[in-house]
Amino acid sequence: MNYNKKTVKDIDVKGRKVLLRCDFNVPQDKATGAITDDKRIRAALPTIQYLLDQGAAVIACSHLGKPEPSFDKWAKKQAEKGKDPASLTKEKWEKTLEALCMEPVAKRLGELLGRDVVLAGDVVGPDAQAKAAALQPGQIMLLQNTRFEKGETKNDPELAKAMAGLAGEDGVYVSDAFGAVHRAHASTAGVAAHLPAVSGFLIQKELDFIGGALANPKRPLVAILGGSKVSSKIGVINNLLEIADTIIIGGGMAYTFSAAKGGQVGDSLLEEDWKDYANDMVKKAADKGVKLLLPVDTVIADKFAPDADSKVVKAGEIPNGWQGLDIGPDTVKLYCGAVADAGTVIWNGPMGVFEFEKFAAGTKAVAEALSKTTAITIIGGGDSAAAVAQMGFADKMTHISTGGGASLEFLEGKELPGVACLLDK
Ligand code: 3PG
Repeated sequence: MNYNKKTVKDIDVKGRKVLLRCDFNVPQDKATGAITDDKRIRAALPTIQYLLDQGAAVIACSHLGKPEPSFDKWAKKQAEKGKDPASLTKEKWEKTLEALCMEPVAKRLGELLGRDVVLAGDVVGPDAQAKAAALQPGQIMLLQNTRFEKGETKNDPELAKAMAGLAGEDGVYVSDAFGAVHRAHASTAGVAAHLPAVSGFLIQKELDFIGGALANPKRPLVAILGGSKVSSKIGVINNLLEIADTIIIGGGMAYTFSAAKGGQVGDSLLEEDWKDYANDMVKKAADKGVKLLLPVDTVIADKFAPDADSKVVKAGEIPNGWQGLDIGPDTVKLYCGAVADAGTVIWNGPMGVFEFEKFAAGTKAVAEALSKTTAITIIGGGDSAAAVAQMGFADKMTHISTGGGASLEFLEGKELPGVACLLDK
């Protein structure tokens, strides 16, 4: 796939209306709706500021959460989850939509920009149309949650056309929603059929760092892969076996590798069906001359709880009634040694259950080792980004991706529809 895409710098936006897709899918406090982490809004600021400074009128849009835009489908899903059908009223469904309105995002964006952000009451309805028509150069508005439209996740061409229409005949589409580029939705890909489409600075940065590390890494390239399931990382392991010099495996998925070698994993996470696959990966690594490092010891717990009893045992020697929740101290030494002289490190997925203080040491040690290396350090979004931030090492990393699923699919080598649709340089 060509990652050499036109950016906002390659197009004249002065006096034009720009439909700007951002990823404002931010975490919110369930009770108050307050935004608990505004990183994704901050990450969009350079592009927004640039567009406004250039004299564009910015029509920003984003999804927020996973609202169900059809009452019938919502009620069906709730009933399947065991909810009493009599309790599934339209009012309840509307409340779920209200909780995912863009008001808090518009407010926070306005605070960060230091200017008014006009909020539309709909996505392509009369309010959005009137507000977009009245928008002047240097002004910004935000559409309602794009997923309130049934056609959004289906990439409905009519919806895409209507969204593009908000920017008018001379409009431009700018995509800066890296976190959503793996989705072929109306607002992330469909609109590009109707307007000249370029990337914003955030997408450009993500493509430069992650794409650069995959295409032309400073070697040795070390990939650290953690997280709970082998099954969710197959694509990444497979792709990185073609590119990396060393692959380090940690987290819950290490126990499937251990069991595949005949080790005892007690009550640890185990994907029985993926044992053969794990063995295949070990063989493929050996054939390709890629160093594949697996844990040599494990911190085990007598229950999955923050106050569980714990001890360290050798990998593959976990007794029944115990489960592995972190890599052990010898593994920490091995893994930290492997990143010390790396040219590039890509990290996706924690080494253990870092949310429990007692089992956070492995993840913390790896984060600290990364903070000290001179290597280019790239952190995939999601859990590893959260871990690095929680442990206070965020500003020591070269690049922390704003995309969870998107960065994973990027590492898998998959085509990203929200990037593929942009104009080539
Ligand atoms: C994310 O949070 O990873 C992106 O915003 C994509 O969200 P989605 O998984 O709901 O499509």
